[in-house]
Amino acid sequence: MNKQNACVIGMQWGDEGKGKVIDLLSKDFDIVVRAQGGSNAGHTVVIGDEEFILHLIPSGILRDSVTCVIGNGVVVDPEQLLTEIAELQGRNVEVAGKLLVSDRAQVVMPYHKALDAAREKALGDGKLGTTLRGIGPAYAEKVAREGVRMCDLIDPQKCRTALQHHIPLVNKLLQNVYEEEPVDPTEVADWAVRNGEAIRHLVGDTVEFLNDAVRTSRSILCEGAQGSLLDVDFGTYPFCTSSNASAGGMSTGTGLAPKELGTVIGVLKAYTTRVGTGPFPTELNDEIGGRLRERGREFGATTGRPRRCGWFDAVATRYTSMINGVDELAVTKLDVLEGIDPLKICVAYEIDGRQVETFPARASALAAAQPVYIEMPGWHGETAKDNSTDSLCPEAAAYVEKLCELVGAPARIISIGSERGQTLAG
Ligand code: IMP
Repeated sequence: MNKQNACVIGMQWGDEGKGKVIDLLSKDFDIVVRAQGGSNAGHTVVIGDEEFILHLIPSGILRDSVTCVIGNGVVVDPEQLLTEIAELQGRNVEVAGKLLVSDRAQVVMPYHKALDAAREKALGDGKLGTTLRGIGPAYAEKVAREGVRMCDLIDPQKCRTALQHHIPLVNKLLQNVYEEEPVDPTEVADWAVRNGEAIRHLVGDTVEFLNDAVRTSRSILCEGAQGSLLDVDFGTYPFCTSSNASAGGMSTGTGLAPKELGTVIGVLKAYTTRVGTGPFPTELNDEIGGRLRERGREFGATTGRPRRCGWFDAVATRYTSMINGVDELAVTKLDVLEGIDPLKICVAYEIDGRQVETFPARASALAAAQPVYIEMPGWHGETAKDNSTDSLCPEAAAYVEKLCELVGAPARIISIGSERGQTLAG
């Protein structure tokens, strides 16, 4: 195993606090690379009084010494990327010379967003609650081998010809299946060429770049987006995203061989949240759920939607620890639990009268699951006095220890607030 590299993976349904963890860890890495997802992600980093929300650009961009890479597995909306760059530059964060976009990455086109919205509308009550960023349709076209890649976008002639053939098909789908307005082929081609020109200087062969970094012993941190329970293979299908948000996706989404990925750091929120629809066994539709939402500021960083909140689920996270091969944990938002006593942790599900400790494949089985809880004493004062793990109050220390025991990995980082300083290293 490559000892200097690492991957940061979300172990729940996203929003575990990966942005802060990546920002903290990135000071020790030369390169931070995103491997999957797109602008559906919303990574929040707080530095002093400033809050940054990053959707496409890796959180490592906030460190001067780090080069950031958007890998081949990402679906990139070039307009969103250019906006994000302009916003960062407007706040004196240098991006020039620090960001590289894979020439193999798929492009999120305007019609992907139209298709995403049309599909959600057609699904009615059965909708997935997507972020409407065009993610599903962009990945669907990638797998159908109909997508536009970055290397195509920056070649105006090829791009126009490809779109000329493809857009009539998209319009058939929009008009005949979804009964929506068609897109204008010339407008889309002009949009593509314009954005291709604007982004060309950032596009390159990131697979060679990353593997050259391995050869020359520069360290790489892979930044996971979403969470393992949203992974298209392992998550709560079909209530999931369209990429591999777990460790396997870090290899296919970057071109780094699996043995080069290094230590797997699983990010775990001290309770559970989810946005969008889909089963959530430990969801709390009561005063405690509302309290977690308010104290934890649980509102989507991308869509602003209120997140659903609930108790910690050790069945789901033992499963995600297994599929990711988690070596170490970063436990986040422990402070949000202050004042809730007792605390509950789900250790098994009861499904159709049977107790199970494994995560079911079928979303309907998970929807029917009754959580089996253990209780832990809560705490009423401060979670920790200073930045040492010794200063955790005994109940908070016991709670973290129980999570580690249930999930099967030690805590390397414990986060008790959004700022860099509000962190205890394990
Ligand atoms: P999509 O990725 O926009 O297609 O959305 C599919 C599902 O994944 C929806 O339930 C979204 O709310 C959820 N989702 C996508 N990205 C994120 C994320 O970064 N954090 C949390 N949930 C996400």
